[in-house]
Amino acid sequence: MALLEVRDLRVSFDTPDGTVRAVRGLSFDVEAGQTLAVVGESGSGKSVATQTITGLTRGAKVSGTAYFDGTDLITADPATLRRLRGAQIGMIFQDPLSSLHPQYRVGWQIVEMIRAHDLTIGKQAARKRAAELLSLVGIPRAAERIDDYPHQFSGGMRQRVMIAMAMALDPALLIADEPTTALDVTVQAQVLNVMRRLQEQFGTAIILITHDLGVVAEMADEVVVMYAGAVMERAPRRDIFYRNHHPYTQGLLASLPARSGDRLTPIQGTPPSLISLPKGCPFAARCSHVFDKCSEPPPLADVGGDPRHQSACWLPHDVNEAVAS
Ligand SMILES: Nc1ncnc2c1ncn2[C@@H]1O[C@H](COP(=O)(O)OP(=O)(O)OP(=O)(O)O)[C@@H](O)[C@H]1O
Ligand code: SF4
Ligand SMILES: [Mg+2]
Repeated sequence: MALLEVRDLRVSFDTPDGTVRAVRGLSFDVEAGQTLAVVGESGSGKSVATQTITGLTRGAKVSGTAYFDGTDLITADPATLRRLRGAQIGMIFQDPLSSLHPQYRVGWQIVEMIRAHDLTIGKQAARKRAAELLSLVGIPRAAERIDDYPHQFSGGMRQRVMIAMAMALDPALLIADEPTTALDVTVQAQVLNVMRRLQEQFGTAIILITHDLGVVAEMADEVVVMYAGAVMERAPRRDIFYRNHHPYTQGLLASLPARSGDRLTPIQGTPPSLISLPKGCPFAARCSHVFDKCSEPPPLADVGGDPRHQSACWLPHDVNEAVAS
């Protein structure tokens, strides 16, 4: 059994304009110690899906299951979710300032986090642990900087603080939602390195949300490609890059610079409205391969090759013959 098993997750929001179907039947597994990357353009439902799993989506209609270590997170009561969040499931977001309180010293915030979940630990021990964590994520002079405020850290260093806080209780799963998007490339690489090092050290599973396939190439074991709230393709990392099947995956790859200076080909057009989705393939309006059959919704089906490789597209299902892009 996988550490996290999400099945047929559906999330919708009632709005004055109609029902926004943000996540439409999402299923995936996260294995202990492995990294699952969730990729897709803005608005594809990456954040809504993971926030729903951790009980952070307000005012939504939710169905499906998300078993984490035997507990269904979708039906779990708020107290159970609060206990799991932080202790068992750590979270980091794109903007650390939205998660770190600006008026409290970072060390104090980590200490409070630790003490909220571990009632047996004393203040001094928690403070020592906080300093250790800050040094573990590569903050120079951690013992002194523990008394600094969030704004006294650079963007990259703040993201390291967030990682320290998320890892403070040695969670089994870390959910990182665009953790490096706001950072420049060099700092991004450093922060990803920190995550990878901690993962090796502690055996943490990671769900890494990103729209950057470069980050996927660096980090992922398996990849879920989302579009308009649904999975378009799912596969081990190598297959996504070298034996991909779905035209949307190919479109994302074509918009990734292989070498700096290469010309990019962004996917033309925009995603469909999540209020009035087309009946057939959601990608049809932008797909250069579209044909008659695409007016019916393509199911997520095995494409041959690796049994973990699936695609929701009507094109022939032999990835060996698929155009490598
Ligand atoms: N509370 C809400 N009410 C109505 N619609 C919402 C709400 N929250 C999210 N949505 C919509 O759900 C869709 C999915 O949003 P989500 O934030 O998950 O996208 P995302 O893939 O994380 O995008 P990004 O890469 O920009 O972070 C979007 O169309 C968004 O507008
Ligand atoms: S099902 Fe049709 S429209 Fe959709 S991605 Fe495949 S070929 Fe393109
Ligand atoms: Mg998001």
